[in-house]
Amino acid sequence: MKRIAALLQSDPSLHEITVRGWVRSFRNDRFIALNDGSCLGNLQCVIEPENFERELLDQINIAAAVAVTGTLVESEGSGQRVELQASKVKVLAPADPEDVKKTVLSPKRHNLETLREQAHLRVRTNTFGAVMRVRAALSFAVHRYFQEKGFYQAHTPILTGSDAEGAGEMFRVSTLDPKNMPLNEDGSVDYKQDFFGKESNLTVSGQLEAETYAMGLGQVYTFGPTFRAENSNTSRHLAEFWMIEPEVAFNDLQDNMDLAEDFIKDVIAYAMKNCAEDIEFLENRLQQEEKSKPEADRSPMPLKEKLEFVLKNHFKRVSYTEAIEILKSSKPNKKKKFNYIIEEWGADLQSEHERFLVEKHFKCPVILFDYPAKIKAFYMRLNEKDKEGRETVRAMDILFPGIGEIVGGSQREERYDVLKQKMETMGIPEEELWWYLEMRKFGSVTHSGFGLGFERLVLFVTGMTNIRDVIPFPRTPGNAAF
Ligand code: 4AD
Ligand code: MG
Repeated sequence: MKRIAALLQSDPSLHEITVRGWVRSFRNDRFIALNDGSCLGNLQCVIEPENFERELLDQINIAAAVAVTGTLVESEGSGQRVELQASKVKVLAPADPEDVKKTVLSPKRHNLETLREQAHLRVRTNTFGAVMRVRAALSFAVHRYFQEKGFYQAHTPILTGSDAEGAGEMFRVSTLDPKNMPLNEDGSVDYKQDFFGKESNLTVSGQLEAETYAMGLGQVYTFGPTFRAENSNTSRHLAEFWMIEPEVAFNDLQDNMDLAEDFIKDVIAYAMKNCAEDIEFLENRLQQEEKSKPEADRSPMPLKEKLEFVLKNHFKRVSYTEAIEILKSSKPNKKKKFNYIIEEWGADLQSEHERFLVEKHFKCPVILFDYPAKIKAFYMRLNEKDKEGRETVRAMDILFPGIGEIVGGSQREERYDVLKQKMETMGIPEEELWWYLEMRKFGSVTHSGFGLGFERLVLFVTGMTNIRDVIPFPRTPGNAAF
């Protein structure tokens, strides 16, 4: 059975075919617009009403599933090459028009919030069909990129006993009965009696396990779900998101930045080439949406131009120290327009600062590197102290217009003693991560990696503005519906 995407590209033919899909509209008892999800476009199916029973015609309603048999003929209408001259229509499953009216399947503009409330139906709209096809294409492009470069995919655990980021933002996993928790003598919960015999949680990152695999397979990547119990109710945060984490033995921070930049450009180029129709549609959608925004909040470029801009330009590489100087003397800092005023070196950057650097100052993607050791994770490679005696680590974050941080990565601390010391001072339990430390005893070499938040990439490529609209069933604080 051919899908509509392929049929719309083919030539007229006398060969009889059957197409199955869902009715998007039915006009004048004659024209069925049929969609099967394979592309944005509908196949126009033309029937002669005289040849069909009234009872059947009455069942050809929006959202009903039908099978249409006929031949592909040159289209008389504009906009498509071919249409289906139908000889037979079979209603496979009806849809009651009164029920349809109450849902986002009804043919009118629905706001994104309503669409989120009907996440089980929204993929049948043009916008979400397009977004989810682009998402699937990007996912394929990620695997293709790494596989072609000789990376091995490593399946790192989802259930784990460790906190890879040391940030304490984990979802606990337990089979203990909350109404009857086994207690130790001091009143604390006795996790020895829990399923894993210890406290466990959902993973926040597969990095630490991936590092062990990079030391054996040389270059690996993970692509899996990650979970963060951070209470950030923003348009950029999910409690469950998908992350891609390559890890490469012998790569230093420069190599890491090169890899990340090349990778991002490759997958964006793939989507532009393979999802041209959907991206065109999303560009128009965005332009419509932007009309209702104040001028200052509109994005400076149409979607495709923005994507091409990223492909054509080098990401600007700037050290944290330079960035702080720029921010300190920036207008919004001096005029106290930032919510967090940058006073001195060492300050953590908020998304308002990142976006200022990218959108106002450099006006292109930016890679910030060499962050203060204090504000970054324990596993990052310590630099020599700078002239002022300040400690930095070989971290790098990639910041994108409209998105903020899209990638976080680093060269890893490969020296046993330095890492042990760092874990101690940052309170990372050695009993938990003894294996991570022990790796540093056996041929421990320079290595680097990064994590790309897949949904942030999909946001960028689709031009959507809320991360809840680029994952099928978003999980956010207070919401795990569906
Ligand atoms: O910067 P993060 O926390 O880095 C790590 O997890 C490292 N272990 C990665 C590595 O070096 N292997 O997260 C990486 C990326 C962020 O840049 C962001 O794109 C995304 O993951 N991310 C989120 N995306 C959606 N919702 C959230 N709550 C996210 N938290 C991080
Ligand atoms: Mg980060």
